[in-house]
Amino acid sequence: MKGLVLAGGYGTRLRPLTHTGPKQLIPIANKPNIQYCIEDLRDAGITDIGIVLGNVMPEKVQEFLGDGSKFGVRFTYIVQGEPKGIAHAINCAKEFMGNEEFVVYLGDNLLKNGIKAIPKKMKEEKADCVISLMPVKEPQRYGIAELSPDGTKVLRTVEKPKEPKSNLAVIGVYAFNSSFFKVYPKLRPSWRNEMEITDAISLLIESGHKVVPHHVEGWWKDTGKPEDILEANHLILDGIAEENEGRVEDGASVVGRVKIGKGTVIYGRSVVRGPAIVGENCKIGPGAYIGPYTAIGDGCQVSKAEIDDSIVMEDSTVDVERKLVRSMIGKSSKILSANGLIPKGERLVVGENTSVYL
Ligand code: G1P
Repeated sequence: MKGLVLAGGYGTRLRPLTHTGPKQLIPIANKPNIQYCIEDLRDAGITDIGIVLGNVMPEKVQEFLGDGSKFGVRFTYIVQGEPKGIAHAINCAKEFMGNEEFVVYLGDNLLKNGIKAIPKKMKEEKADCVISLMPVKEPQRYGIAELSPDGTKVLRTVEKPKEPKSNLAVIGVYAFNSSFFKVYPKLRPSWRNEMEITDAISLLIESGHKVVPHHVEGWWKDTGKPEDILEANHLILDGIAEENEGRVEDGASVVGRVKIGKGTVIYGRSVVRGPAIVGENCKIGPGAYIGPYTAIGDGCQVSKAEIDDSIVMEDSTVDVERKLVRSMIGKSSKILSANGLIPKGERLVVGENTSVYL
């Protein structure tokens, strides 16, 4: 069985973070979303993986993932170019898949319990397709599945229905065999001008293929919006194990489950309260407070500030006596004090689509 990870899409709801790279590379507990997907596929025994690249700096995905050897897998890159929907992205991998069965994983989806159950179900049920389902509060925002009264059969799947027939979202992990490529030519663009995966699944059902539902256990997150990323960060940090490869100076305290990377120093009078992660080669303090559910990327410097429930990405500096909460700070940013500056006042160099609350 092969794997396919989709790394396309514009990520408009995550701007400005997606002005400088694709959404799948945004770190969640210091690891890009796409890496969780790859590790889940590998843990399910799938090591021959296609990566479908979109047009938001695809070279950054290749640069990060390489040939796959550092993750114990092998990548084949497939260019989708213009994003025309999930089904279109899958169809771009037709040649790579040949006649094999495959698991598709959306690179901005995150699952607590991995995906092992999906290839297993595909084999056991001798299915043509397995879809993963999860009850959601706002079914209008997702692809929704309608099941037979006994729950064993999928009757149809509908993309973002105005009047949903169920609250079961079709989440971003699917298994298919080559019948997908046989029905694809019949697919037409939707109202949002995309080749919808839900329409492709409905076509499979209509043409007599066996589409089996799989109910996902544990949490699932689609990290399409800033608040979803912070929540995913929360969920991952909830499961983090304590590990200290850095140095905690006298007078500093590290409380609870905190992961500290190599070369990092926690200076005196600082407190790091878990669950939290501090990457490699960071300088924290003196006198800093890193609160629960915070991820500090590699090479960051945090002095004096209090940071709670936030993501600070690589090589950033936060040196101000202020408390930051539920914040996302992009790579190589500087949050500094305006005290003593003349003329007096806050100074901002803010990129397109940024939100600042002062
Ligand atoms: C896409 C799919 C949708 C699915 C969702 C899961 O939605 O089209 O069927 O439920 O991913 O993350 P989109 O992110 O394009 O709104």
